[in-house]
Amino acid sequence: MTDIHQQRVLVLDFGSQYTQLIARRVREAKVYCEIFPYNAGLDKVKAFGPRGIILSGGPSSVYDPGAPLIGLDHLELGVPVLGICYGMQLITHLLGGKVARAVKREYGRAELMLDDESDLLKFIGGTGDSPENKAVVWMSHGDRIEAMPGGFAAIGHTDNSPTAAMADRSRRFYGVQFHPEVAHTPMGAQILKNFLYDICGCTPTWNMASFADYSVGLIKDQVGDGNIICALSGGVDSSVAAALVHRAVGERLTCIFVNNGVLRKGEAERVQQTFSGMGLNLKYVDASGMFLSRLAGVEDPEKKRKIIGNTFIEVFEAEANKIKGVKFLAQGTLYPDVIESVSFKGPSAVIKSHHNVGGLPEKMNLSLVEPLRELFKDEVRELGAELGLPDEIIWRQPFPGPGLAIRILGEVTQERLWVLREADAIVLEEIKRAGLYRDIWQSFAVLLPIRTVGVMGDERTYEGVVALRAVNSRDGMTADWVQLPYELLGIISNRIINEIKGVNRVCYDISSKPPSTIEWE
Ligand code: XMP
Repeated sequence: MTDIHQQRVLVLDFGSQYTQLIARRVREAKVYCEIFPYNAGLDKVKAFGPRGIILSGGPSSVYDPGAPLIGLDHLELGVPVLGICYGMQLITHLLGGKVARAVKREYGRAELMLDDESDLLKFIGGTGDSPENKAVVWMSHGDRIEAMPGGFAAIGHTDNSPTAAMADRSRRFYGVQFHPEVAHTPMGAQILKNFLYDICGCTPTWNMASFADYSVGLIKDQVGDGNIICALSGGVDSSVAAALVHRAVGERLTCIFVNNGVLRKGEAERVQQTFSGMGLNLKYVDASGMFLSRLAGVEDPEKKRKIIGNTFIEVFEAEANKIKGVKFLAQGTLYPDVIESVSFKGPSAVIKSHHNVGGLPEKMNLSLVEPLRELFKDEVRELGAELGLPDEIIWRQPFPGPGLAIRILGEVTQERLWVLREADAIVLEEIKRAGLYRDIWQSFAVLLPIRTVGVMGDERTYEGVVALRAVNSRDGMTADWVQLPYELLGIISNRIINEIKGVNRVCYDISSKPPSTIEWE
């Protein structure tokens, strides 16, 4: 098996909000990379064996007490180094140059004058609306390079920064004051490619087809002839993990899909159809009665979560015990859940403890198979397409483990479940019809625990209220409410009130997170 990870690059994280973006751009250039915290230690860096190192930006100043620093030895591994913003200042500081506070903090769009286009800045001048020898870049820094270290020459400057890009070709050290990883630097991806291909000598071989082959080999090696189980939720991560493991071990994988009674309309049928259609060994367990009877009379959101989480484990374990010789549990853990990074702690680690099979691997003595541990969400989607999963699954919006139970404020009853399910189905149908589904992080309906007065025909009504929620988010940590077109809101509201008995009012939630949360419970 060829190791597609052989040509790898390391991103050292100094706390920039853009660190993950650097890694994603590198992988989009089809080169494998990982993120380590800046203080991971030289041994770990050496053991990783990178062909090049990228030092991220960060909020500190190299002279701050407690600023994140690395030893000079990190620059002496004989591989090219690219410092971005703080990373460039750090290279300067470590190698004897001078960094000073800029007269004016530079933030936003700037015009980079290209003084040397022979390697790092190749192919970027004269693109878009920029004239020859110039390119638009995105700046965000308070410090600047006052004196370059010996051996360096400026290869680009802006009005505010005489050294906006610098290079020491003999040692293959480079620095840029701007951010090539953000979309506001239109030719930034090209700059990173120049670094990866020309300077580090990497070839673009990392893609989801090669990853799938590589990963199938690894899974086979890991599991030998053991049996694997997987808790399938119908979400992107568990679905892609299951499809990948299935490709590796075929029917030795059993997926267990538990109907917890608080799924969306048609969800149980859809998941069964998709996966059984793929020839995957799927065990469908309808435990909705058990879940709903335990939820009866419960109003407290955390109690609902606990009941659903514990019942899930109980049901899953009972099913898993029926399968002989199970030694492994496959899970759709993603890279953001495991990155040990200065800047980023994803919410997923915490969220995932709410649902799925927390504690089960130890209890049942199972080893974990986590084939997506190296991937970002967009790569998981690409892999899903590669494995033949339908768009409906690949592009599904996140859905919480406790499902509709935390969107029915107050008690979960059959009748209220029916109302919310129907309302939710209308929301999704109309959002999809308007072509907005993929652009929105989550869009859904919430059933409020109140009734309001209305009129229908000549009669006064006293019925339920549905709130609509649509948010955009990068990772669920923060979120903005989406400005859905009034026309669409009108269509959704009309349909809900006309088609669903028991609802006479629809409201739109216009709060962002923080201080609100995405879910209402
Ligand atoms: P909040 O409401 O905290 O949600 O802003 C952030 C993200 O997490 C999801 N969420 C959950 N997911 N179990 C889950 O699996 C939960 O108990 C849970 N609570 C919230 C929510 O849908 C959003 O994507």
